[in-house]
Amino acid sequence: MMKLSPFKFGSVEITFPVLLAPMAGYTDAAMRTLCLEHGTGAVYTELASAEGLRRDAGKTFQVLEPAEGEHPVAGHIFGADPQAMAEAARMIEQDGRFDWIDLNCGCPVKKVVSRGAGAALLKDLPLLGRIVEAVKAAVSLPVSVKTRIGFNAETAGHLEIAKVVEQSGADMVAVHARLAKNFHGGDPDWETLGEMKRALKIPVIGNGGVNTPGDAERMVAVSGVDGVMIGRGAIGNPWIFQEIRTGCTARRSAAERRDMMAEHLRRLVALMEKRHARSGRAERHSPEEAACVLFRTHIPYYVKGMYDKKQLLMKLATLVSVDSIMEEVETLVSKNR
Ligand SMILES: Cc1cc2nc3c(=O)[nH]c(=O)nc-3n(C[C@H](O)[C@H](O)[C@H](O)COP(=O)(O)O)c2cc1C
Repeated sequence: MMKLSPFKFGSVEITFPVLLAPMAGYTDAAMRTLCLEHGTGAVYTELASAEGLRRDAGKTFQVLEPAEGEHPVAGHIFGADPQAMAEAARMIEQDGRFDWIDLNCGCPVKKVVSRGAGAALLKDLPLLGRIVEAVKAAVSLPVSVKTRIGFNAETAGHLEIAKVVEQSGADMVAVHARLAKNFHGGDPDWETLGEMKRALKIPVIGNGGVNTPGDAERMVAVSGVDGVMIGRGAIGNPWIFQEIRTGCTARRSAAERRDMMAEHLRRLVALMEKRHARSGRAERHSPEEAACVLFRTHIPYYVKGMYDKKQLLMKLATLVSVDSIMEEVETLVSKNR
């Protein structure tokens, strides 16, 4: 079994340092609560824009909305303006339901980078430092940074990034061990992650390429990180956290996967009902339809190995009710008993 010790940063105590990574479009409160119940040590909300919170707090705040009793949870934000980031952080702190604030300094997608935010901050470390400083000065909640080992080979190196993150006052850092130019592809570089870990006094969470308990163990052995963060390995697989906790892996039966899917979808419908009730606007989809559209992207992960991918994806694209989705899942389950 893996040897990982609980750690604290500021007021946040992580008793089991295997965290769920933030993943836009996946890690809403439905997935996060399932993962917490299956042993993850902490979760991050989906990514919210600091400028968006400034302009239309009601609408943008929905992205951050935690479930009742969901802890420990970080409010995860992006932006390029220190003042806007500080205001957004203050708003999250005042809401009272979050345990800490996380600053996205690693997202490579165009929508974020073109605004000078996310991974673009790795090309402007003085600005990254000013953002962390402004947020730290604005809130008393702990502040973490989610970043990368670099943007590309020509921009700031991993040790410079580590230094700026720590010196500007971050309480914890999670590092995705890939360059931003590689998005989520290619082998993660856990040796470079280890060099960052050794250069830092604050807790370091390692991320990238952990899909099994064995991967988690190897990442910790190679890099010495204080904890591990799992992204894609947790989609359709909330069991991964308890497997790492216990050291026992198991092949999930088709029926077990069906039951988890039903519960996940139920939570998504409840979440969408809540969002629709709050928004007060006319929505294009009913809460059930909206939940089904979101859930369709999770299904191929849950039923890995149980289906003909092309056929399933074509069929799923048309399903917009819980009954039709669960009927399709039931057919798959009966074929895989
Ligand atoms: C669909 C998707 C959405 C993501 N969204 C975010 C995000 O909003 N914020 C962020 O910091 N990282 C985001 N990431 C990156 C993950 O948090 C993680 O760093 C990356 O997937 C590497 O971990 P993995 O190899 O365990 O998947 C996203 C990744 C994926 C696949």
